[in-house]
Amino acid sequence: MTVPLTPAQPAGLTVQPVDYAPSVGKRLRQEQFGVAVSGIKDINNLTDEEFATIEELLYKHSVVVFENVDLNPDGQFRLTRQFDPQAHEYGHGAKGRPDNKSILHPDLRTIPGTPVQLIGNGLVTDEHVLQGLKSPTQLKHPSHETFHKTQLSAEESEKGYTRFYRWHIDAALYERDPPKVTTLYGLQMPLGKGNIVRYDDGTGDELEVPLGGTAFVSGKVMFDILPAEYKSLAVRALVKYFPHPYVAIGTAKSRSTGLGMETDGLEVPLDELPPWEEKHVKTFPVCWKNPVTGNLHLQVHPSGIKEIIIDPLPSTTARSPSTLCPDGAHLTDLKEVRDLMYKMQRPGIAPELVYVVDWKPKTLALFHNRGVLHSITGAFQPDEVRAFWQNNLASTDIPLGPSAEDVLRYA
Ligand SMILES: [Fe+2]
Repeated sequence: MTVPLTPAQPAGLTVQPVDYAPSVGKRLRQEQFGVAVSGIKDINNLTDEEFATIEELLYKHSVVVFENVDLNPDGQFRLTRQFDPQAHEYGHGAKGRPDNKSILHPDLRTIPGTPVQLIGNGLVTDEHVLQGLKSPTQLKHPSHETFHKTQLSAEESEKGYTRFYRWHIDAALYERDPPKVTTLYGLQMPLGKGNIVRYDDGTGDELEVPLGGTAFVSGKVMFDILPAEYKSLAVRALVKYFPHPYVAIGTAKSRSTGLGMETDGLEVPLDELPPWEEKHVKTFPVCWKNPVTGNLHLQVHPSGIKEIIIDPLPSTTARSPSTLCPDGAHLTDLKEVRDLMYKMQRPGIAPELVYVVDWKPKTLALFHNRGVLHSITGAFQPDEVRAFWQNNLASTDIPLGPSAEDVLRYA
C-alpha cells in the first residue's frame, strides 16, 4: 500500500521522497520509505505544528532527512526528546557503554551537558564539532574486520569492497527500553567516494554505497514479504535477549551480512557476565505495531537474541500442513534460534530493499528506531575524518506487539 505524503503541511514546509539510488527497487519507492523535508524555520526550535508533521512523517515513512540545517547539540536533544517527552537518558544509559568488554561503539564521546554522542573516524579538531570535548579527539569508525567471522582481504578492501557492519536497532536490550527515534547529524565526512557492500553469503548480492553511508531497511517490508507461514509464526512469537547482550556476544563473531551472529559457542557464559538480574532481561514481540499506521514491523536485533517463544495458533485458526509450530514452542538452542530469525530477516535486507543515506555536511536524518533496522557501512583510512552527532533516548514505554486482530489475521 502506498502511504500518501501528509496532505496538510505547515506553511513553508516541503516534503518530497528522498533521492533513491538506482539500486532501490519498486517496493521501497512505492512505500515512500524515506522523505526529505525542507523549509523548517529553526531546526533547534520546531513549532508545535512543524513537530506534529515531522512526527507523523517519521511513523509513516520511517526516515526523515533534512539537508543543510544548522543544528546544535541542545537543539538535537530537544528534537529527540520531543518524540518521547518522558525520556531523559541516552539509549544505552548515561555511561553509554555498560562495560568495557561491550562491543558497542568504542568511541562514543558524550558532548558535555547533553546526552548527544560524537561518533565517527579520524582526528577531530574542529571546535564546533567538539563542543567542549578535548581537542584533538581521536575517533574510530567500526570495521567489519573485528566483528565478522570472515574478513575481506586487504586487496578486496583496496578495490572498494566493504560489508554491512551490523544490522541493528539502537537499544540497550537490557534494563532500558528501545528509543523511539534516533537523530543523526552529519558534520564532517569524506565526499564523493564509494564502496561496494558484499553480502558474501553465497547469493552474490552486492550493493553500491557512498563511503560511510548509513543503510536502512524497513521492518514493515521485512514482515510484508514473508511467506504466510512465517507471518503466522512472527505474530505469535517473542524474542528473549541475552542479559547484557553486547557483552555476552563480545567474544562471538557476526555473519558476513552483519545480520546476526555465527554460532560457534564463543559467547561469554552467563555466569561470567557483569552482574545481572532476570527482571532486567528483555523479551519483546517479534513484530512491533506502528502507533500511527497500525502496520506490523518485524523488529528484532538479531545479534542479541537468545531464545524464541512461540504461542500456539489461536483455537479458531485452521491448521494446515505448512503451519509452523501450531502448538507453540520455546526455542532455546542458540543455533536454531539464530537460523530461524535469519531465515525471516535475510529477505528484508536484499539490495533492492536497502535505502542508504548519502551524507553531506549539515544533513540531519531522523529514523523510526522501532520501525527500521540500520547498519553503518564502509572502511575508513585512519586519516579520513568523519564526525556525526548522534542521539537517542531510552524510552519510558515498551514497543506494542500485534493486536488480537493482527494475530487472527496472520496466524
Ligand atoms: Fe545505530
